[in-house]
Amino acid sequence: MKRKILIMITVILILAGTLTSLVAYNMLRDFREKALYDRLYSNVSLINETIEIIGKNDSYINYFSLIQKFSGRIEDRITFFDTEGNALADSRNNSIILKKYDFPEVRSASSGYLGTSKHISYDSGKYSFFMATPSVAVGEKNIIVRIEGNLDEVSSFRSIFFSNMLKALLIGICISIVIGMIYVHRVIKPINTLSKATKKVGKGKFQTIELPKSKDEIRHLTEDFNKMINDLEKLEKMRSEFVTNVSHEFRTPLTSIMGFVETIKYSDDISEMEIQKIMNIMEVEIERLNRLINNLLTLSEIENIDMSKENQLISIEQCIHQSKEILKPLAMKKNIKLNYNPSNSNLQIMGNSDRLKECIINIIENSIKYSEDNMDIDINSFELDDLSKVIIEIKDNGIGIPEEDLKRITERFYRVNKSRSRNTGGTGLGLSIVKHSIRSMNGEIDIQSKVGQGTKTILKFDCIKKSSYT
Ligand SMILES: Nc1ncnc2c1ncn2[C@@H]1O[C@H](COP(=O)(O)OP(=O)(O)O)[C@@H](O)[C@H]1O
Ligand SMILES: [Mg+2]
Repeated sequence: MKRKILIMITVILILAGTLTSLVAYNMLRDFREKALYDRLYSNVSLINETIEIIGKNDSYINYFSLIQKFSGRIEDRITFFDTEGNALADSRNNSIILKKYDFPEVRSASSGYLGTSKHISYDSGKYSFFMATPSVAVGEKNIIVRIEGNLDEVSSFRSIFFSNMLKALLIGICISIVIGMIYVHRVIKPINTLSKATKKVGKGKFQTIELPKSKDEIRHLTEDFNKMINDLEKLEKMRSEFVTNVSHEFRTPLTSIMGFVETIKYSDDISEMEIQKIMNIMEVEIERLNRLINNLLTLSEIENIDMSKENQLISIEQCIHQSKEILKPLAMKKNIKLNYNPSNSNLQIMGNSDRLKECIINIIENSIKYSEDNMDIDINSFELDDLSKVIIEIKDNGIGIPEEDLKRITERFYRVNKSRSRNTGGTGLGLSIVKHSIRSMNGEIDIQSKVGQGTKTILKFDCIKKSSYT
């Protein structure tokens, strides 16, 4: 990762640097050539004008002395030709005089145009730019003036330009790599920390990590990671608590059964009546164990099976009526009346009717168990005004639940008062089964309670759009 990013930075820099230098070089070269052209043109024009003036007065001109005069002031080489291409005088090299040449620029000039060309100079051997102007009459002769500008200046500029550019690019790459390394290190470090921490999770070590200072995606990722670790820790704690609770719940009845068995085994003078009494208590304990196992099985079933797949259309009224029937004997023992007020419409939801009945029975059973004798229980079912939710309310006038216990009441094995609950035969699993069941039907449960006043349990479900089912 680190290497990849650095290689990328270098490649981008080299590409960008090369492109910029090429463009810059082309622009500068054109600019310098244009400057050379302008200088040669103005010089050659000046020479032409001067010769013309001199030629008007003098029919015979000494080309050598004339050219010497110019060369004193103009550093570019000057050559005079006649219209046939014969060299007449030269400011640098007299050996070429009176020879005939075939230069393209001179050819154009003798045809009456401004002639230009680039080629290697015969005598200096340098790559040069030549410019020749149409002939000027001097006495009976027509003279073509040619001027030579050195292109080496332009090409030497190229090597200076590129060597400077290369230096700049190298320095640029070095600086970028250093800055890039610092930056990449800053970016990679939290990722490495995360990856190490993730490996530890695999080994069962849950450890949150320090948040990076930057406020970017990596910080979000770290925050999410820490949240996940916290959740995992909670889950792990819940799991071990659950195991402890289960063992404890089993041990209590088992210990008491063991005690009774030993009493019967080792007591010689135990009466038939006493044995009968012990047997009855043992039966209660065994029933408790049985209930515990059944509750645990239900709980694991709800948690492990995707209940939403088993959902069908169910009638709320029917479920409540059937639950009421089942609980009637229990309520009658305490002379408690179960008052059900169904709303007028036949309410339906998507769910599992056995599960819903089980939930309602659990809640009403609690209300009966935790109410004094003769205290009635009210059950309502209705639809919200905007028809978005179906509500089931179960309200008792019992002992109520203290505020600090209320939020934990649906946790597994959580009981307000262990001894009190155990006396009533509760396992502490009822409400956690209810919570999970209701959730599997996309419902919500809300328990409101005040000590000494009573408890109200509210179940909320999504409404079924009736039109689509009739
Ligand atoms: N209607 C109620 N009135 C008072 N206390 C209640 C009521 N419902 C539940 N509780 C308290 O909540 C605890 C948990 O309920 P639940 O999960 O059904 O377990 P249990 O097996 O003890 O009934 C009970 O032990 C009881 O203390
Ligand atoms: Mg219960």
